[in-house]
Amino acid sequence: MSKSISGFSKLSKSKKIDWIVDTYFSKTNDAKAILKQYWNSNETLQQLHDEFIENTITNYYLPLGVAPNFLINNTLYTIPMAIEESSVVAAASKAAKFWLDRGGFKTKVISTNKIGQVHFMYHGNFNTLLQFFKTVKPKLIEDTKAITKNMELRGGGILDIELKDKTKDIKGYYQLHASFETLDAMGANFINSCLEQFAKTFKDEALQFEGFSKEEKNIQIVMSILSNYVPDCLVRAEVSCDVDRLNENNSITGEEFANKFVQAVNIAEVEPYRAVTHNKGIMNGIDAVVLATGNDFRAVEAGVHAYASRHGKYSSLTHAKIENGVFNFWIEIPLALGTVGGLTGLHPLVKLALELLHKPSAKELMQIVAVAGLAQNFAALRSLTTTGIQQGHMKMHLMNILNQFEANDDEKHTLTEHFKNNTVTHNAVVEAINNLRVKHSD
Ligand code: MEV
Repeated sequence: MSKSISGFSKLSKSKKIDWIVDTYFSKTNDAKAILKQYWNSNETLQQLHDEFIENTITNYYLPLGVAPNFLINNTLYTIPMAIEESSVVAAASKAAKFWLDRGGFKTKVISTNKIGQVHFMYHGNFNTLLQFFKTVKPKLIEDTKAITKNMELRGGGILDIELKDKTKDIKGYYQLHASFETLDAMGANFINSCLEQFAKTFKDEALQFEGFSKEEKNIQIVMSILSNYVPDCLVRAEVSCDVDRLNENNSITGEEFANKFVQAVNIAEVEPYRAVTHNKGIMNGIDAVVLATGNDFRAVEAGVHAYASRHGKYSSLTHAKIENGVFNFWIEIPLALGTVGGLTGLHPLVKLALELLHKPSAKELMQIVAVAGLAQNFAALRSLTTTGIQQGHMKMHLMNILNQFEANDDEKHTLTEHFKNNTVTHNAVVEAINNLRVKHSD
């Protein structure tokens, strides 16, 4: 039976674990040993991880893999990917190699503006509010100088602040809608600090504004927060080649493949059930790089899916066409990423991942991440429209099944060889392990 606890966060790590295992586990020693098994023996490194969040009891590992051979705007990259799904890195590597021989990926950052809003309630005359806003706007910017000084020195800062009337949606609801350039920082802290200062100045100044009646002066700030919807922080990645060059799989001509591929993309453009899975495959690549580079994958996910619905219906993030015998495949997505601040200077593996990527600027990282998404989608659609997804997927999943049955190195070697020429299914693998073990026990 569970019980509640107060003051949990004040307990030492060891006492926290004691409480967890006493409360939730029957075999207390097992649970404790499992948790401790993942502690790092380097105490400084462990403490660093402990202090990332509250109530840390252990570390949760994900594999960090690499996908080499990504040619992006004529520079070669090996892309780091943190992900648990067995086939993702293999698929990315395959797509990278495929396009390496066909000119590589071309990318372009379209825009880098980010948005933050102060949501407030005002019950009075709109024109008076507008007049107040115009009067106070320079002071809103002036009062954030301490926050914006360094960012401005580097060429970023607040781009604009607008007053938005949202009273059609909610009575008395208005916004200060601000746009920002945060350069190599993802910018969440910077934007939120600016917004909270705007809110304070806005409220304080309203109390002094002579144009307002006594009631109008009483502006209620509801909240101040950045938006993870960043349709103006946009990047494009594309690949193209002659249709004839797509045909190295003899069972299907380049033209047949290109047509089928475009059809598959068209289906994801019009059919939300398919679009969600199609985009999920894209996010396999995107999230893995976002995570490996210490960025906020929840923010990226939320923003990307909102963008996929921007026309009122959830749709594909990628597009494809054949024009004059040339196959063209591209993605345009919003990505708010940072290569300074946050975990980027703290987590040793994140630092390593960024170094592997030639220490990219945020703009460069946007392009690399978009490519990872496009490559992943290419690999998925290529399998789906030719061999089917399970062939490659189950090949990669084979190791998971073997590990589930605690196969030793010899068994793994024999069975991976065996399944190079045989179809992998869960049952087939179990049967093969059993046969092998019976044979060895004879
Ligand atoms: C699996 O993680 C991703 C796919 O389902 C993507 C797709 O269907 O396009 C293979």
